[in-house]
Amino acid sequence: MKTEQNTSAMVEVRVDGRSIRVPEGTMLLEACRKAGAKVPTLCNSDKLAPYGACRMCLVEVEGRRPAASCHTPVAAGMVVRTSSEALSRIRGNILELVISDHPLECLSCPANGRCELQSVAAELGFRESRYQSPAQHRPPKDFSHPFLKVDMEKCIACARCVRACDELQGSFVLGMEGRGFDMRVIAGNGEGFADAGCVSCGACAVECPVAAIMDRAWVSDGLPDRTVTTTCSYCAVGCSLNVQVKGERVTMIEPSPLGSANRGHSCVKGRFAHEFAGSRERLRSPLIRGEDGELHEASWDEALDLVARKLTEVRDSHGPQAFAAIASARCTNEEDFLMQKFTRTVMGTNNIDNCSRVCHSPSAFALGKSLGTGAGTNSFEDVEHTDCIILIGANPTEAHPVFGARIKQAVLKGAELIVIDPRRIELAQIADMHLALNPGANGAVVSALQHVVLAEGLVDEDFIARFTEGFEEVKEAFKDKTPEWAEEISGVPAEQIREAARRFAKAGRAMILWGLGVTEAAHGSNTVFGLINLALMTGNLGKPGTGANPIRGQNNVQGGSDVGALPNVFSDYRSVADPVARKEHQEVWGTLPPSQGGLTLPQMFDAAHAGTLKAMWITAEDVAQSDPNTEHVVGALQSLDFLVCQEIFLNETTRYAHVVLPGATFLEKDGTFVNSDRRIQRVRRAIPPLEGCKPDGDIYQEVALRMGGDLGFGTPPDPAKVMEELAALSPNWRGVSYERLEGEGGFLQWPCRSPEDPGTAIVHEGGAFLSGKGRFTPFEWQPPAELPDEEYPLFLTTGRQLFHYNVGTMTRRTAVTQLLPAQKERLRIHPKDAAKLGVENGREVLVISRRGRVTVEAEVTRKVKPGTVFMTFHFPETQTNLLLSSAADEYTGCPEYKVSAVRVQAL
Ligand code: SF4
Ligand code: SF4
Ligand code: SF4
Ligand code: FES
Repeated sequence: MKTEQNTSAMVEVRVDGRSIRVPEGTMLLEACRKAGAKVPTLCNSDKLAPYGACRMCLVEVEGRRPAASCHTPVAAGMVVRTSSEALSRIRGNILELVISDHPLECLSCPANGRCELQSVAAELGFRESRYQSPAQHRPPKDFSHPFLKVDMEKCIACARCVRACDELQGSFVLGMEGRGFDMRVIAGNGEGFADAGCVSCGACAVECPVAAIMDRAWVSDGLPDRTVTTTCSYCAVGCSLNVQVKGERVTMIEPSPLGSANRGHSCVKGRFAHEFAGSRERLRSPLIRGEDGELHEASWDEALDLVARKLTEVRDSHGPQAFAAIASARCTNEEDFLMQKFTRTVMGTNNIDNCSRVCHSPSAFALGKSLGTGAGTNSFEDVEHTDCIILIGANPTEAHPVFGARIKQAVLKGAELIVIDPRRIELAQIADMHLALNPGANGAVVSALQHVVLAEGLVDEDFIARFTEGFEEVKEAFKDKTPEWAEEISGVPAEQIREAARRFAKAGRAMILWGLGVTEAAHGSNTVFGLINLALMTGNLGKPGTGANPIRGQNNVQGGSDVGALPNVFSDYRSVADPVARKEHQEVWGTLPPSQGGLTLPQMFDAAHAGTLKAMWITAEDVAQSDPNTEHVVGALQSLDFLVCQEIFLNETTRYAHVVLPGATFLEKDGTFVNSDRRIQRVRRAIPPLEGCKPDGDIYQEVALRMGGDLGFGTPPDPAKVMEELAALSPNWRGVSYERLEGEGGFLQWPCRSPEDPGTAIVHEGGAFLSGKGRFTPFEWQPPAELPDEEYPLFLTTGRQLFHYNVGTMTRRTAVTQLLPAQKERLRIHPKDAAKLGVENGREVLVISRRGRVTVEAEVTRKVKPGTVFMTFHFPETQTNLLLSSAADEYTGCPEYKVSAVRVQAL
């Protein structure tokens, strides 16, 4: 079974006279390196499978012919020499041959100083080639890609780029063509990168040892002054990035080979979409709305004084409940902690929320209720140790590309994949099964999956008996939820549901991954309960390769909630009503925080409409574009007496702000983020904040001081000290400190309860649920708030696409917009629906719902099913969210972004 752990025996080998022990199966090259020997390589990469093309890594093995160490496994008793006159001669010959067809213009080459061929030549003391006419082959250069330059004249045919595209990214774009000196890399069938399905991840450029495929920034900017390792601020995969800086300018970003979440890989956004930080459109001064209704530049003192004065007035005249704050999933843990502390101690209210409300609050809620903690149970690594994955309502290859690539690799290596999604997403195309359900039918399908497992006795009785409670209720609740019943609702054939349930339950180790397609629904919490039930009844929790795992959206949406930017809990999800937590906070904060739960994000807008909420402070959230039912949100913002927006750019929400404060980007601040698998990682300042801007945490402290408070970590606040307090107040973070984050592989996964605790890769291990016992939860499936009817006959579902992020604030200010799919919004519609409605590919259509209408170009595609259309919300010029309803999850208020009824008219 592929889930077996590495139990290989150790073998002893001698390398250059030194004995070492390595696991059986280790390649000789690794053994030689372990013994301290330096063996030159060209085609080898630690991230790729052994290939053995260049022979540069030859070593002598006693009793054998010289062997290519990178793809020769060790054998017990081997005696190896890594240097000798003969080896030097062979390596020199190989090098000479490679260089005979390589231009010798190192000094003017952009790879000068970081070219592996150059380094190997220097190591071998290579001075000149006996071949008189190097570089006979001059294939045309390809500079058509916005981020990469391709110069095959320099290619040494090592195939690392091809293997990176296959083995890391899984896009299979590149191939080798020709033989001998004519061998070169081609994209697709030679049509070039852009047309061959390249997703611009840059893995080929990272792997290329020379300057044949390279980042354009190499060419334009040369070697950096310094490199700073930080964490990506786009999605919640949490890739470690090496930011290269010249002066005070970021020139290039590469994935860190040491990154625990990304292992040297990245996607187009993390790697290339960083120019937004230096955009001319960045806010560089506070703005105050004048009597003429316009925003005018103001000094920091003026703006901060005004904010402090107005918030004091609101608090003192209308009471603390008249204020609400929205913290940002884009900001660091330390900043979000500061904002909730400001809200609770200076303003005296629990009215603080963050955008997890509108994405994964049902996941946190249901996981908390069922298992005792509101986070995913397992780690990214577990996709490599599983036999079967149910992926429901998530499109990781676009929304979480590095994790998506990892899932793809796991599937290619044999893990079963069952995709449950209305769309034929990329992973559905390689899945064993695709259950293409109707939007809004997740709960029905998940009910029927449980029914099959229960009815066919596919449960893990021992696990249920020892570690869970509430099983009998669930057995009863799903007794009549047959696959035939679910077929009526979901459109998924009953037999498919049966087969999926059997595959999942019978797999040795099975895991569930879900995304916003599950949670952004009127009954999203119920579906999450169902998924957890499924994991519990099959014993798929607390072990490698199993688990119930939400794939979180934004970079720090997990952290924002973990640190207490929520209306009902402090950091570490401790209830604001819990007397012990309150007392501990009082001791540290010097003031007793309010015990009454605060307003959720949608409730804030309702309260503004009702006139009870007078002032809001919104950090880095464009609620007027990203939240559903735009008119309702805008109306709420307009009703406020005072709105502060803290942003890096003007946006739809700042239109209604009284004061706009310019914050800083992740490249300009220190702190930490928590990724989707609870990995706490450092964010490090690579460049100073643009003149006129301030890190967001500094701003909270400055306003607090002006209001007679003090958040307590200095001015500006020291993020390491903030972490100390956060850890002290959060039992599951008690072992976290900056000191530890600098070592220990650069991350700690919470729970991490003491300085000795290494952190927790798998929560609830061995059935030790944080809640005591894993709790089954029955529920009754209910339809979405809105179903298609005669007037609005189509389902509209929404989501993300690869090249953009959220409302596009950052990505639209980068060169990703040069890539065709990133240029405008499109309504994806099935050919059958398009034909019925007279809609043509590339022509504009009107999309109308009960809330509003938008005009958008149609893309006729079989990736959506008949009866369902799809749009993203990345483009402010196409206000997709105008179309969406205010229906929300009954437990958490998470809006139903994924299901609306619309009609489409050809224009
Ligand atoms: S950028 Fe990524 S997807 Fe494109 S060719 Fe290179 S490795 Fe493949
Ligand atoms: S383009 Fe670079 S990585 Fe690819 S085969 Fe040529 S030298 Fe190797
Ligand atoms: S996968 Fe996510 S975290 Fe990684 S580079 Fe891409 S956007 Fe950044
Ligand atoms: S590095 Fe071993 S064959 Fe190329």
